[in-house]
Amino acid sequence: MLRVAVLTVSDRSSEGIRPDASGPALIKRVNALLWKVVESAICPDDEGSIREKLIKWSDNEVADLILTTGGTGLAPRDVTPEATQAVVTRLIPGISEAMRAASLLKTPHAMLSRGLAGVRARSLIINLPGSPKAALENLDAVVAALEHAVSKIQGDPSDCAQI
Ligand code: MTE
Repeated sequence: MLRVAVLTVSDRSSEGIRPDASGPALIKRVNALLWKVVESAICPDDEGSIREKLIKWSDNEVADLILTTGGTGLAPRDVTPEATQAVVTRLIPGISEAMRAASLLKTPHAMLSRGLAGVRARSLIINLPGSPKAALENLDAVVAALEHAVSKIQGDPSDCAQI
């Protein structure tokens, strides 16, 4: 069972102008996976605010998996990947590659998400796009590998199964 934190990155939702639909959709999906949502928050499209949450949740060992939603695209205020890049110690390109590969089967716009995945401390951080549909589609594309990813990040010394 993973402990999961969900960060919605959206200027409009953080100002209360638009209700956050993606955070609750991700929380519902995480609960359905029988993982535990330990934190959720909304922050503006501001690099410092995003970095602060990612650092707090990873360095205090609050969450094994941190999912961000929003701010991965090409709009001038989209800075979630930059904030993530600044705090992770290692990138995991395969996770973002898998998300975009699966998403391209659904929409050519998938190539416009710049979302990253990486490690800080004992936490796996994954950027998902901002719409509820896109966030869930991207999470679903990689969900089968995430428990194994977290156990390796957290030092599981066992050999990986030879499949
Ligand atoms: N991925 C999937 N699976 N489904 C989608 O509908 N939308 C795309 C893309 N990834 C989409 C997707 C669109 S339209 C954009 S602009 C980018 O994600 C970035 O989204 P964001 O800026 O909300 O993070």
